Amino acid sequence: MRLDGKVILLTGAGGLLGRALAERFVAEGAAGLILTDADAAALDATGAALGAGPDPGDAAAPDPGGTPVISEAADVRDSDAVGRLVDRAVAEHGRLDVMVNNAGVVSPNGRIHNLTPEDWRRAIDVNLFGVLHGIEHALRVMRPARSGSIVNTASVAGMTAWPYAAPYGVSKAAVIHLTKVAAVEYARDGIRVNCVCPGVFPSNMHRDVPEAAMESLAAKHPFGLGTPADVVGAFVYLASDDARWTTGSAVVVDGGYSLP
Ligand SMILES: NC(=O)c1ccc[n+]([C@@H]2O[C@H](COP(=O)([O-])OP(=O)(O)OC[C@H]3O[C@@H](n4cnc5c(N)ncnc54)[C@H](O)[C@@H]3O)[C@@H](O)[C@H]2O)c1
Repeated sequence: MRLDGKVILLTGAGGLLGRALAERFVAEGAAGLILTDADAAALDATGAALGAGPDPGDAAAPDPGGTPVISEAADVRDSDAVGRLVDRAVAEHGRLDVMVNNAGVVSPNGRIHNLTPEDWRRAIDVNLFGVLHGIEHALRVMRPARSGSIVNTASVAGMTAWPYAAPYGVSKAAVIHLTKVAAVEYARDGIRVNCVCPGVFPSNMHRDVPEAAMESLAAKHPFGLGTPADVVGAFVYLASDDARWTTGSAVVVDGGYSLP
């Protein structure tokens, strides 16, 4: 299994992609999972899907497939809360091998003149600062260990000029750049930093996106819209030792969206 022995902390674990990632990490033999999300009910649902029992906050909960799972709700905008989760990983397992900064929010479907400062702040606070907090706290424990892999969820919206979602695209472009700078800064510490740039796979994020907009997005993906299952393999690769010489990459998994 590709993630044998890895202790992994995953944010946004209550979302559609987060749940698929958690399930795949277990299937790939992770030694321990620390799952978090701001939405406690969604996080519970992921824990239940993994068979972690009704109280996923209980470290003694049944181990899905031999992987101990800790679930604790937290907001990635709160650096201290993210830090406590990293500390919990170290307290339970003695280390953190992989940090997956996956929590994210989409901005309202609107052109720039219709957006509010709050729309911008929310996208930047969650999508950029949330990832930054994960990177900072992971580095705190990975640097002394001189090893670790950080994987951030960006988006093709951060690589292409995606209309009607400027704060989202700008925040994801920032995640891609942060990933590259962090990769350069911490390579000598033995830490890899990469990101995945998915195309569109329908999820809770698209709840308020008009149907016509979804159809036009689908038409821009030569392979059609994706599913979380289409995307998780890139995360597994980047988390695994197969990617030991890969750092600073923005791995595009988008059904061909960004080709033209
Ligand atoms: N769905 C897509 O088409 C798509 C495409 C490219 C990138 N992405 C990215 O994939 C990631 C996962 O998105 P998804 O599609 O599974 O959507 P989702 O809405 O199902 O999941 C996102 C999760 O993040 C959590 N979250 C939001 N704000 C948070 C905060 N402040 N603190 C902690 N958790 C918070 C939500 O509660 C939710 O469970 C996001 O970073 C998103 O930007 C999604």
